[in-house]
Amino acid sequence: MKSDLYVALENRQIAPGIMRLSIQRSEATGGMRELPEREIGIKRKTPLNFEAEDWAYSPVEPGQFFMLKTRAVEPLLPRPLSVHEASGDVVVFLYQTRGAGTKAIAALETGDPVLATGPCGRGFPVDDITGRVALIAGGIGIAPFRYLARRLSKSPSISSLVLVAGFRSMLFGLEDIAPFVTEIRVATEDGSAGTKGFVTDIIAPAPFDAVLACGPIPMLKAVKDSCKSAGTRCLVSVEARMACGIGACLGCTINTRSGNRRVCVDGPVFPAEEVLFDGGE
Ligand SMILES: Cc1cc2nc3c(=O)[nH]c(=O)nc-3n(C[C@H](O)[C@H](O)[C@H](O)COP(=O)(O)OP(=O)(O)OC[C@H]3O[C@@H](n4cnc5c(N)ncnc54)[C@H](O)[C@@H]3O)c2cc1C
Ligand code: FES
Repeated sequence: MKSDLYVALENRQIAPGIMRLSIQRSEATGGMRELPEREIGIKRKTPLNFEAEDWAYSPVEPGQFFMLKTRAVEPLLPRPLSVHEASGDVVVFLYQTRGAGTKAIAALETGDPVLATGPCGRGFPVDDITGRVALIAGGIGIAPFRYLARRLSKSPSISSLVLVAGFRSMLFGLEDIAPFVTEIRVATEDGSAGTKGFVTDIIAPAPFDAVLACGPIPMLKAVKDSCKSAGTRCLVSVEARMACGIGACLGCTINTRSGNRRVCVDGPVFPAEEVLFDGGE
């Protein structure tokens, strides 16, 4: 994992409050010295139109993330975003604008420099996942599942891949994952699409060999509990506030069965049974 200069290729709203950013390693665009010239106009690729080209640098596991910092003075600290897609020398992120950090990222324009550290953390162990697999996403938790689904869809050990996604109301990100999964199920809290209710209402883990989940902590806890009852293997990608992203500040520490663990280096993906949500089970 290392810090490198990248340039923003495209940063576009795909739904209200939801953006997709693609960045490219700056050496491929002529280096940082040329970056101030916006005319650089790097429009070489359609960000999600990758023909399964591998990420050209250190291998990226689905579920890993990059710490991103823009030129904006505030906030000082970088923000973690999961890899939505990685191919060639381009990394793509899907993100929700929340506060100062994601607003600074949302302000990036084509050609702007971005300092990115990564790939960080431990992702989903793709080679160790077999059989019938369910991906469970809550809201922006869908972000890592495009790259994960693409990688899993290439594995001969996977017999079926179902995406189960829950949203408050508006749907997003599904069309990017659809080509790689055998089925998509949707729940919305307001009933505007799919089944009215929570994502956990539309998935019973028993028929699956593995459940991989990313979303808010209450959802992860519910998924963990139902997988435990069904005896289904469960991996969860845990979110925590992060300052350094490289294991130095201890700011992202969570409780696990094997003691305190740092989400940024020991995770964000953990076996669900390891994680002690709310300090309890
Ligand atoms: C490993 C990892 C991967 C992530 N991947 C993505 C991704 O792919 N797409 C995406 O949109 N977001 C992702 N996030 C969350 C993203 O980093 C936060 O939205 C961001 O840090 C918020 O920064 P901000 O400056 O915009 O908001 P802030 O001003 O820092 O916070 C705005 C509000 O959001 C809350 N908040 C901030 N961070 C978190 C958090 N981690 N968990 C819960 N609440 C939080 C704050 O309490 C506050 O209420 C990820 C986080 C982690 C740890
Ligand atoms: S964010 Fe600093 S140790 Fe994890």
